[in-house]
Amino acid sequence: MNVVEPIIQIQNINKYFGAFHALKNVSLDIAPGDKIVVLGPSGSGKSTLLRTINKLETIDSGTIIVDGHDLTDPEEDINAIRMELGMVFQSFNLFRHLSVLDNLTLAPVKLKKMEKSQANDIALRLLDKVGLRDRAGHYPIQLSGGQQQRVAIARALAMEPKIMLFDEPTSALDPEMIGEVLDVMVTLAKEGMTMVVVTHEMGFAREVADQVVFMDQGAIVEQASPDVFFDNPQHQRSKLFLQQIL
Ligand SMILES: Nc1ncnc2c1ncn2[C@@H]1O[C@H](COP(=O)(O)OP(=O)(O)OP(=O)(O)O)[C@@H](O)[C@H]1O
Ligand SMILES: [Mg+2]
Repeated sequence: MNVVEPIIQIQNINKYFGAFHALKNVSLDIAPGDKIVVLGPSGSGKSTLLRTINKLETIDSGTIIVDGHDLTDPEEDINAIRMELGMVFQSFNLFRHLSVLDNLTLAPVKLKKMEKSQANDIALRLLDKVGLRDRAGHYPIQLSGGQQQRVAIARALAMEPKIMLFDEPTSALDPEMIGEVLDVMVTLAKEGMTMVVVTHEMGFAREVADQVVFMDQGAIVEQASPDVFFDNPQHQRSKLFLQQIL
Protein backbone atom coordinates (compact mmCIF):
# COMPACT_ATOMS: atom_id res chain seq x y z
CA MET A 1 0.00 0.00 0.00
CA ASN A 2 1.13 3.51 -0.75
CA VAL A 3 1.06 5.42 2.50
CA VAL A 4 1.29 9.19 2.18
CA GLU A 5 3.43 10.81 4.85
CA PRO A 6 1.44 13.52 6.68
CA ILE A 7 2.66 17.08 6.09
CA ILE A 8 1.37 18.00 9.56
CA GLN A 9 1.55 15.49 12.42
CA ILE A 10 0.03 16.58 15.69
CA GLN A 11 0.59 13.97 18.37
CA ASN A 12 -1.05 14.05 21.74
CA ILE A 13 -0.51 17.74 22.43
CA ASN A 14 -1.51 19.55 25.60
CA LYS A 15 -1.59 23.28 26.14
CA TYR A 16 -2.23 25.16 29.36
CA PHE A 17 -2.86 28.86 29.94
CA GLY A 18 -1.93 28.95 33.60
CA ALA A 19 -4.20 26.39 35.23
CA PHE A 20 -6.59 26.35 32.26
CA HIS A 21 -6.28 23.24 30.08
CA ALA A 22 -6.82 24.70 26.60
CA LEU A 23 -5.80 21.70 24.43
CA LYS A 24 -6.34 18.18 25.73
CA ASN A 25 -4.45 15.29 24.12
CA VAL A 26 -5.10 16.57 20.63
CA SER A 27 -3.83 14.40 17.78
CA LEU A 28 -4.35 15.08 14.10
CA ASP A 29 -2.60 13.93 10.92
CA ILE A 30 -2.95 16.06 7.82
CA ALA A 31 -1.85 14.72 4.44
CA PRO A 32 -0.46 16.98 1.70
CA GLY A 33 -3.36 18.56 -0.17
CA ASP A 34 -5.88 17.85 2.60
CA LYS A 35 -8.47 20.43 3.50
CA ILE A 36 -9.36 20.27 7.18
CA VAL A 37 -12.21 22.36 8.53
CA VAL A 38 -12.17 22.90 12.30
CA LEU A 39 -15.54 23.51 13.92
CA GLY A 40 -16.61 23.98 17.50
CA PRO A 41 -18.17 26.36 19.99
CA SER A 42 -16.49 29.54 21.14
CA GLY A 43 -13.61 28.83 23.50
CA SER A 44 -13.21 25.21 22.39
CA GLY A 45 -9.57 25.74 21.38
CA LYS A 46 -9.82 26.12 17.60
CA SER A 47 -7.62 29.21 17.35
CA THR A 48 -5.19 27.85 19.90
CA LEU A 49 -4.80 24.64 17.90
CA LEU A 50 -4.24 26.57 14.67
CA ARG A 51 -1.70 28.84 16.37
CA THR A 52 0.34 25.92 17.69
CA ILE A 53 0.94 24.78 14.09
CA ASN A 54 3.11 27.82 13.36
CA LYS A 55 4.30 28.13 16.94
CA LEU A 56 2.43 31.34 17.68
CA GLU A 57 1.56 29.26 20.76
CA THR A 58 3.97 26.83 22.40
CA ILE A 59 2.75 23.49 23.70
CA ASP A 60 3.34 21.87 27.09
CA SER A 61 3.53 18.27 25.91
CA GLY A 62 3.23 16.20 22.77
CA THR A 63 4.81 16.83 19.38
CA ILE A 64 4.00 18.74 16.22
CA ILE A 65 5.89 17.91 13.06
CA VAL A 66 5.41 20.22 10.08
CA ASP A 67 6.89 19.01 6.79
CA GLY A 68 9.47 16.97 8.68
CA HIS A 69 10.40 19.72 11.16
CA ASP A 70 9.75 19.05 14.84
CA LEU A 71 8.40 22.27 16.33
CA THR A 72 9.41 21.19 19.83
CA ASP A 73 13.04 20.78 18.79
CA PRO A 74 14.89 23.93 19.93
CA GLU A 75 17.45 23.34 17.16
CA GLU A 76 14.82 23.85 14.45
CA ASP A 77 14.74 27.25 12.75
CA ILE A 78 11.17 28.34 13.40
CA ASN A 79 11.39 31.19 10.89
CA ALA A 80 12.24 28.74 8.12
CA ILE A 81 9.26 26.58 9.09
CA ARG A 82 6.96 29.60 9.24
CA MET A 83 7.84 30.43 5.64
CA GLU A 84 6.09 27.22 4.65
CA LEU A 85 2.92 28.28 6.46
CA GLY A 86 0.64 31.10 5.39
CA MET A 87 -1.82 32.40 7.95
CA VAL A 88 -4.95 34.46 7.43
CA PHE A 89 -6.76 35.98 10.40
CA GLN A 90 -10.24 37.28 11.01
CA SER A 91 -8.89 40.84 11.22
CA PHE A 92 -6.94 41.07 7.96
CA ASN A 93 -3.81 42.58 9.64
CA LEU A 94 -2.59 44.34 6.52
CA PHE A 95 0.21 46.90 6.82
CA ARG A 96 -1.81 50.10 6.71
CA HIS A 97 1.05 52.35 5.66
CA LEU A 98 1.91 50.20 2.64
CA SER A 99 0.18 49.92 -0.72
CA VAL A 100 -1.47 46.66 -1.66
CA LEU A 101 1.48 45.79 -3.88
CA ASP A 102 4.01 46.57 -1.14
CA ASN A 103 2.00 44.49 1.33
CA LEU A 104 2.58 41.54 -0.97
CA THR A 105 6.25 42.13 -1.74
CA LEU A 106 7.54 43.03 1.73
CA ALA A 107 8.05 39.53 3.12
CA PRO A 108 9.38 37.90 -0.05
CA VAL A 109 11.99 40.70 -0.41
CA LYS A 110 12.92 40.89 3.28
CA LEU A 111 12.71 37.28 4.37
CA LYS A 112 13.30 35.38 1.14
CA LYS A 113 15.75 37.95 -0.29
CA MET A 114 13.78 37.93 -3.52
CA GLU A 115 14.56 40.53 -6.20
CA LYS A 116 11.98 43.32 -6.05
CA SER A 117 11.10 42.86 -9.73
CA GLN A 118 10.42 39.17 -9.25
CA ALA A 119 8.41 39.86 -6.09
CA ASN A 120 6.37 42.43 -8.05
CA ASP A 121 5.68 39.92 -10.82
CA ILE A 122 4.50 37.32 -8.32
CA ALA A 123 2.43 39.90 -6.45
CA LEU A 124 0.65 41.07 -9.59
CA ARG A 125 -0.09 37.49 -10.62
CA LEU A 126 -1.59 36.84 -7.17
CA LEU A 127 -3.62 40.05 -7.27
CA ASP A 128 -4.99 38.85 -10.59
CA LYS A 129 -5.91 35.58 -8.95
CA VAL A 130 -7.88 37.30 -6.18
CA GLY A 131 -9.42 39.78 -8.64
CA LEU A 132 -7.64 42.88 -7.37
CA ARG A 133 -4.88 43.68 -9.81
CA ASP A 134 -6.42 47.09 -10.44
CA ARG A 135 -6.04 47.91 -6.73
CA ALA A 136 -2.27 47.33 -6.56
CA GLY A 137 -1.56 51.00 -5.84
CA HIS A 138 -4.33 51.45 -3.29
CA TYR A 139 -3.90 51.49 0.48
CA PRO A 140 -5.78 49.06 2.72
CA ILE A 141 -8.04 51.83 4.07
CA GLN A 142 -9.29 52.42 0.51
CA LEU A 143 -10.56 48.83 0.23
CA SER A 144 -13.68 47.07 1.45
CA GLY A 145 -13.36 44.35 4.08
CA GLY A 146 -13.75 41.60 1.51
CA GLN A 147 -11.09 43.18 -0.68
CA GLN A 148 -8.73 43.57 2.28
CA GLN A 149 -9.15 39.92 3.15
CA ARG A 150 -8.45 38.89 -0.43
CA VAL A 151 -5.27 40.99 -0.28
CA ALA A 152 -4.37 39.27 3.00
CA ILE A 153 -4.76 35.88 1.32
CA ALA A 154 -2.65 37.02 -1.64
CA ARG A 155 -0.03 38.35 0.76
CA ALA A 156 0.20 34.99 2.51
CA LEU A 157 0.46 33.23 -0.87
CA ALA A 158 3.29 35.55 -1.95
CA MET A 159 5.61 33.58 0.33
CA GLU A 160 4.70 30.44 -1.66
CA PRO A 161 3.67 28.47 1.43
CA LYS A 162 3.00 24.74 1.39
CA ILE A 163 0.21 25.06 3.93
CA MET A 164 -2.42 27.74 4.53
CA LEU A 165 -4.03 28.30 7.92
CA PHE A 166 -7.25 30.31 8.09
CA ASP A 167 -8.79 31.48 11.38
CA GLU A 168 -12.38 32.58 10.74
CA PRO A 169 -11.40 34.53 7.61
CA THR A 170 -14.94 35.69 6.88
CA SER A 171 -16.25 36.34 10.39
CA ALA A 172 -15.50 40.06 10.34
CA LEU A 173 -17.09 40.62 6.93
CA ASP A 174 -20.46 41.96 5.93
CA PRO A 175 -22.56 39.12 4.50
CA GLU A 176 -22.33 40.36 0.91
CA MET A 177 -18.53 40.11 1.00
CA ILE A 178 -18.24 36.62 2.41
CA GLY A 179 -18.78 34.94 -0.95
CA GLU A 180 -15.92 36.68 -2.72
CA VAL A 181 -13.46 35.54 -0.04
CA LEU A 182 -14.81 31.98 0.04
CA ASP A 183 -14.53 31.85 -3.77
CA VAL A 184 -10.80 32.58 -3.50
CA MET A 185 -10.45 29.85 -0.87
CA VAL A 186 -12.36 27.34 -2.99
CA THR A 187 -10.04 28.09 -5.93
CA LEU A 188 -7.03 27.57 -3.70
CA ALA A 189 -8.45 24.29 -2.46
CA LYS A 190 -9.04 23.06 -6.02
CA GLU A 191 -5.44 23.86 -6.88
CA GLY A 192 -4.35 21.37 -4.24
CA MET A 193 -3.25 23.62 -1.38
CA THR A 194 -3.09 22.00 2.05
CA MET A 195 -5.54 24.01 4.15
CA VAL A 196 -6.61 24.11 7.78
CA VAL A 197 -9.64 26.34 8.12
CA VAL A 198 -11.52 27.44 11.23
CA THR A 199 -14.87 28.71 10.00
CA HIS A 200 -18.56 28.85 10.71
CA GLU A 201 -19.35 28.66 6.98
CA MET A 202 -21.00 25.26 6.83
CA GLY A 203 -21.54 25.43 3.06
CA PHE A 204 -17.80 25.84 2.60
CA ALA A 205 -17.11 22.99 5.02
CA ARG A 206 -19.41 20.66 3.12
CA GLU A 207 -18.06 21.62 -0.29
CA VAL A 208 -14.35 21.77 0.42
CA ALA A 209 -13.42 19.76 3.51
CA ASP A 210 -11.87 16.32 3.26
CA GLN A 211 -12.29 16.04 7.01
CA VAL A 212 -14.26 17.99 9.56
CA VAL A 213 -12.68 18.20 13.00
CA PHE A 214 -15.13 19.07 15.76
CA MET A 215 -13.65 20.44 18.99
CA ASP A 216 -15.24 20.98 22.36
CA GLN A 217 -13.57 22.08 25.60
CA GLY A 218 -10.06 21.71 24.20
CA ALA A 219 -10.46 18.21 22.78
CA ILE A 220 -11.24 16.76 19.37
CA VAL A 221 -14.62 15.13 19.92
CA GLU A 222 -15.27 13.94 16.39
CA GLN A 223 -13.35 13.76 13.13
CA ALA A 224 -15.26 12.68 10.05
CA SER A 225 -15.97 13.38 6.39
CA PRO A 226 -18.41 16.28 5.95
CA ASP A 227 -21.11 13.87 4.75
CA VAL A 228 -20.90 11.86 7.93
CA PHE A 229 -20.42 14.82 10.23
CA PHE A 230 -23.35 16.86 8.92
CA ASP A 231 -25.80 14.08 8.12
CA ASN A 232 -24.94 11.48 10.70
CA PRO A 233 -22.85 12.92 13.54
CA GLN A 234 -21.74 10.26 15.96
CA HIS A 235 -21.41 12.20 19.19
CA GLN A 236 -23.98 13.90 21.32
CA ARG A 237 -21.97 17.12 21.52
CA SER A 238 -21.62 17.25 17.72
CA LYS A 239 -25.37 16.80 17.35
CA LEU A 240 -26.06 19.56 19.84
CA PHE A 241 -23.61 21.90 18.10
CA LEU A 242 -25.20 21.26 14.71
CA GLN A 243 -28.68 21.80 16.11
CA GLN A 244 -27.57 25.14 17.46
CA ILE A 245 -25.94 26.44 14.29
CA LEU A 246 -28.02 24.97 11.47
N1 LIG B 1 -3.44 33.91 25.78
C1 LIG B 1 -4.40 33.32 26.53
N2 LIG B 1 -4.37 33.39 27.86
C2 LIG B 1 -5.30 32.77 28.62
N3 LIG B 1 -6.32 32.06 28.10
C3 LIG B 1 -6.40 31.95 26.77
C4 LIG B 1 -5.45 32.57 25.91
N4 LIG B 1 -5.80 32.30 24.63
C5 LIG B 1 -6.91 31.55 24.71
N5 LIG B 1 -7.27 31.33 25.98
C6 LIG B 1 -8.42 30.52 26.43
O1 LIG B 1 -8.35 29.26 25.82
C7 LIG B 1 -9.64 28.83 25.41
C8 LIG B 1 -9.62 28.51 23.94
O2 LIG B 1 -9.45 29.73 23.22
P1 LIG B 1 -9.48 29.76 21.64
O3 LIG B 1 -9.23 31.17 21.26
O4 LIG B 1 -8.57 28.73 21.10
O5 LIG B 1 -10.99 29.35 21.35
P2 LIG B 1 -11.76 29.31 19.96
O6 LIG B 1 -12.32 27.94 19.81
O7 LIG B 1 -10.89 29.81 18.87
O8 LIG B 1 -12.98 30.31 20.24
P3 LIG B 1 -13.70 31.40 19.25
O9 LIG B 1 -14.68 30.59 18.42
O10 LIG B 1 -14.42 32.30 20.19
O11 LIG B 1 -12.65 32.06 18.44
C9 LIG B 1 -10.59 29.94 25.79
O12 LIG B 1 -11.22 29.61 26.99
C10 LIG B 1 -9.71 31.14 25.96
O13 LIG B 1 -10.24 32.03 26.90
MG1 LIG C 1 -10.96 31.51 17.66
